Amino acid sequence: MHKPVTIVILAAGLGTRMKSRHAKVLHRAGGKTLLQHVVDTALALAPPERIFAVVGHQAEQVRQSVAGAGIGFIEQTEQKGTGHAVMIGRDSLAHLDGYLMVLYGDSPLLRADTLRRLIAQETEGGAAGVLMSAQMDDPTGYGRVIRDGDSRSGGLVLDVVEQKAATPEQLAIREANMGIYCFRADLFWKHVDEIQPNNPAREYYLTDMPAILTRAGHTVEAMLIDDPGEALGINDRAQLARVDAIFRERKRSDLMAAGVTLIKPETITIDSAVEIGMDTIVEPFAQILGATTVGENCRIGACSIIQDSRLGDDVDIGAFTLVNASVLERGVSAGPYARLRMGNHVEAGAHIGNFVELKKTRLRAGAKAGHLAYLGDADIGAKVNIGAGTITCNYDGYKKHPTQIGEGAFIGSNSTLVAPLEIGAGAYVAAGSVVTQDVPPDALAIGRGHQENKPEWAMKRRKLARTGAPIQSGD
Ligand code: UD1
Ligand code: MG
Repeated sequence: MHKPVTIVILAAGLGTRMKSRHAKVLHRAGGKTLLQHVVDTALALAPPERIFAVVGHQAEQVRQSVAGAGIGFIEQTEQKGTGHAVMIGRDSLAHLDGYLMVLYGDSPLLRADTLRRLIAQETEGGAAGVLMSAQMDDPTGYGRVIRDGDSRSGGLVLDVVEQKAATPEQLAIREANMGIYCFRADLFWKHVDEIQPNNPAREYYLTDMPAILTRAGHTVEAMLIDDPGEALGINDRAQLARVDAIFRERKRSDLMAAGVTLIKPETITIDSAVEIGMDTIVEPFAQILGATTVGENCRIGACSIIQDSRLGDDVDIGAFTLVNASVLERGVSAGPYARLRMGNHVEAGAHIGNFVELKKTRLRAGAKAGHLAYLGDADIGAKVNIGAGTITCNYDGYKKHPTQIGEGAFIGSNSTLVAPLEIGAGAYVAAGSVVTQDVPPDALAIGRGHQENKPEWAMKRRKLARTGAPIQSGD
């Protein structure tokens, strides 16, 4: 085991090119904020007490956004460069032994495995630092890595020259600095004050460290990565969209590798934290978001949106169905065109059909609401049948009220259930009833006008229309 690694994540910049009121690292890709991605990657490599984010622009919101992670923060009130961002953390960082790794909060694609290789090269070799680099066809905008030999043969790094300060020969170098470093902590803190703002921007460049350490008689290496896309930083909305697409693609590949069928996968959006079981089929344009888990052998219908919900095995979600913050147990079917708004619990084998809306409702095992209903704040017993057009009137203009329906009850179509209301087990509600009083178990409730049939009335009316003769009263 090597000595511990401390990770500093630079996240103080505003990100002017995002043209946004929100700090850059608060924008989302792959369903998480950019900073959350980097923090999660860091947590795979170090304990939270060894991870620090440097915050500046909208420091409080940025802190809050990753508050649950238990990491530390360093405040950089003025952004005077990447070197400055680390230097000002001296009080929190310098006493931590081992190694110091620097990451960027706006480069969320880096994989923990790639960073592990960087750490391994630093800890297993004798260098004072290792930086991550890549050969790029077009390295414009990146710092260029100056080696004492051919980069492919692993010559030592002598310096990193920023685009603006590079000579024409240096600009021709295609090895670019990815901006990710691992240093020996003791040497870093011994020499960091030698960084001077000797550049047109008057900034303290972290990229001066290789030259400083080399001058002090130490060596610095570079670790070439094959895919510079992994270190892709986000500066504008177009890059945000590209990175989002990469995260989506990674997630889809992982799921397919784990036995999930995705139909027209390029149209499907699945957040990083989502888990899906084997043999589940996801249809085109479905979105599965947030903290959602889906069991095995389910179907998620086309254009459905499932968010922050838990679906058991064998659940069937029809097309265009919205499920939010709800639990659906094994064998439930919902949709097409159903809306489970929030806080619902649908027990095993229950069925929700088209144009049914549920809110904070428990549908117990085997209950059915097949068509056109609103069920809010309701507890609906096992095997209850809810007829088409049933409405729970849960709101009186001031307060929400509950509806309770006992096991095996039958609610006729177009019933209006005025809450608070209790309908006993096995009871019947006649179709079209307005139910305002509790119904005892096994009773029939009819709450509607009585029907009267007037024989031949229609025929007489037609005759009237032809002849103009009036219909007699009592006819
Ligand atoms: C930096 C490197 C460059 C490298 C490139 C890779 C320097 C001087 N240059 O340039 O060699 O090729 O990354 O992407 O380091 N930040 C702070 N506080 C500051 C300044 C920056 O927190 O005072 C943060 C930014 O929010 C950003 C990151 O550090 O997340 C990188 O800063 P940026 O100014 O974008 O550096 P680059 O110009 O990209
Ligand atoms: Mg940048």
